[in-house]
Amino acid sequence: MELRNKVVVIIGGSQGFGKALAELFIKEGSQVVIVSKTKASIEKTAREIYATAFVADVRNELELQNVARKVIDSFGEIDIWINCAGLFMVFSKDDLIDLNKAHTMFDVNFFGSVFGSRTALVYMKNGGVIINVLSSAALDATRAKNAKLYAASKWALRGYVEALRGENKDSNVKILSVYPGGMKTHLHDEAIPSEFENFMNPVDVAEKVIENLKQNSPVSDLVIKRPSLNS
Ligand SMILES: NC(=O)c1ccc[n+]([C@@H]2O[C@H](COP(=O)([O-])OP(=O)(O)OC[C@H]3O[C@@H](n4cnc5c(N)ncnc54)[C@H](OP(=O)(O)O)[C@@H]3O)[C@@H](O)[C@H]2O)c1
Repeated sequence: MELRNKVVVIIGGSQGFGKALAELFIKEGSQVVIVSKTKASIEKTAREIYATAFVADVRNELELQNVARKVIDSFGEIDIWINCAGLFMVFSKDDLIDLNKAHTMFDVNFFGSVFGSRTALVYMKNGGVIINVLSSAALDATRAKNAKLYAASKWALRGYVEALRGENKDSNVKILSVYPGGMKTHLHDEAIPSEFENFMNPVDVAEKVIENLKQNSPVSDLVIKRPSLNS
């Protein structure tokens, strides 16, 4: 797919992987809209990378619909929509699970991407691509340990995305998934994993997503492992 002039909406684009994707789409000549919950940070990033910023909390579907309408009003269409907002929380084996925190993580990682996908489908009248950002933890959770609920939120999303892809297989909207391994971002600020130093640069991971999209037939489930775990 040619990316020049495509209208790309990146939910969770203020920092980390979403910001890396935004910068690469801009380099390709796309018109990029970044969205996140915190007004000050999304606007700061938009100024820095020359993107358009809108504010929405992915836990609220109406806020995402509002963003989609504003993108259509400003740019006329939505070609690519990326659900990249996410939270990572750990719960130690011996603690009681803090249900408020666990529900918040599911609301963002699972329902946020469900709401984003549903919204994009309504507004992609001329076809398009929806990308959901999952995690290698949604392929193999045996190493997730105290991040069991994070892994579960991504497995739940994997089930939803596979079903949505099946449901839309005859439509002109492609539904793709990306499964990155560990990346050096602020996602891990609350609990820095012991292997953090070996995690990938999000820019390198974003480059692989762009390369895939530029193919005539992009891979539907793009797995991007840490090079040290490839063999
Ligand atoms: N880093 C990794 O090792 C890794 C590996 C595999 C998959 N992933 C996935 O990659 C995606 C991006 O993560 P990252 O590593 O780039 O993390 P990050 O640097 O912490 O960025 C997370 C982004 O999500 C946004 N966000 C969080 N809650 C939101 C909400 N309720 N509504 C709207 N936006 C919200 C944040 O914006 P605000 O600050 O405005 O809330 C921020 O833009 C996530 O889905 C994550 O699960 C990450």
